[in-house]
Amino acid sequence: MDYFEYKDNELFCEEVNLKDIAENYGTPTYVYSKKTLERHARAYIDSFSSQNHLVCFSVKSLSNIAILKVLKDVGCGFDIVSGGELHRALAIKADPAKIIFSGVGKTSEEIEYAIKNKILSFNIESASELYRIEKIAKQLSITASVSIRFNPEVDSGGHDYITTGRKGDKFGVSSLDEVMSLADHISKSDDINMVGLACHIGSQILNLESYEAAAKKTIELADKINSLGANLEFLDMGGGLGVPYNGENPPNPKDLIACLEAVMSERSEKIVLEPGRTISANAGILLTTVQYIKDDFLIVDAAMNDLLRPSLYGAKHDVWNIKKDIGSPKNWNIVGPVCESSDFIRKDIALSAEENDVLAVKTAGAYGFVMSSNYNSRTRGAEILIDKDVSHVIKTRESYSNLLDLEHIPND
Ligand code: LLP
Repeated sequence: MDYFEYKDNELFCEEVNLKDIAENYGTPTYVYSKKTLERHARAYIDSFSSQNHLVCFSVKSLSNIAILKVLKDVGCGFDIVSGGELHRALAIKADPAKIIFSGVGKTSEEIEYAIKNKILSFNIESASELYRIEKIAKQLSITASVSIRFNPEVDSGGHDYITTGRKGDKFGVSSLDEVMSLADHISKSDDINMVGLACHIGSQILNLESYEAAAKKTIELADKINSLGANLEFLDMGGGLGVPYNGENPPNPKDLIACLEAVMSERSEKIVLEPGRTISANAGILLTTVQYIKDDFLIVDAAMNDLLRPSLYGAKHDVWNIKKDIGSPKNWNIVGPVCESSDFIRKDIALSAEENDVLAVKTAGAYGFVMSSNYNSRTRGAEILIDKDVSHVIKTRESYSNLLDLEHIPND
């Protein structure tokens, strides 16, 4: 459910006509609905029957600080994967006790930054990482809280590039014997403290069976770890629930939480989730203008540097004309100006459109702007947050001079 809808044949975000956004701010521009973000975050937070839970929004899916502030105010914590994401979370005064740090390649600088800020937990993904965190914690004389991200070996389906819970994927600790020996090591250490057990089985998951299987494996393993004398505070089931891009019918957060609570009803640990896409995807669209029409191509002013998902994963985003019912639809390939044949926004879509029309690429809030680049020296577009009838620029469109900001000619 989102708040992008036609009123009198013109597409609105909440109470703002998107035609006005395109006219006032230009395109390509990402537009987000505050009400949709809040609604999606509450769909998680309000679905738990107990108070014993924490919803950590996955910052990587949409990281603008104005968005993070909206989600913090609703009660979310944050799942981060870099020092940069920690910096963003701290910039909006997020509670460090609600921040979880995942990722296979945390650097010493990032570890130190997070330990000093006393985050809730590092989800450690290898023995080497654990020893590094222990060493840095000792040097700083601050006990670091860690969880082990294990690999439940659940194949959750979906695109190969975003599946993470199988043996052979680079994420998590795959051998259960290794998990146990790491847990044993932690239990004997004065510098690290084991607070949780974590897994994350993939992204754009469309079934609950994979979660159920992963939850069962998690509690079995948690029992073994607790028998070593640990006292786990939380079980983190990651993120990954899918959204409808093109007619898919994923379970909703309430179904997911009911499924997890059923498996975990006897547990005393807090349930932690790390949703990204389900909160941010449908809360955002990308506005782009048709520049030229050639054969069956609509050549638009957004490209793979603005929205990479179609080129990288073959993702099919729905595309709407912001003016409805303007003639009979035709099948188009919507492509951008970048010099790559893989630069397309959507292939083979029925749409009525003319030159200078503005199109809305739907479900673009997650992994949209955050994966954008300056390829072909294209300036990145603006980001706008709509709150009822008010539009806020939350990121200014880049200028040509921004492109050169950090570049230097030697001896010049
Ligand atoms: N937690 C961890 C440890 C993750 O690696 C991810 C996503 C999430 C949570 C959030 O997953 P979500 O609820 O958003 O599915 N760029 C790809 C998606 C990559 C997902 C990476 N990890 C895409 O555009 O589909």
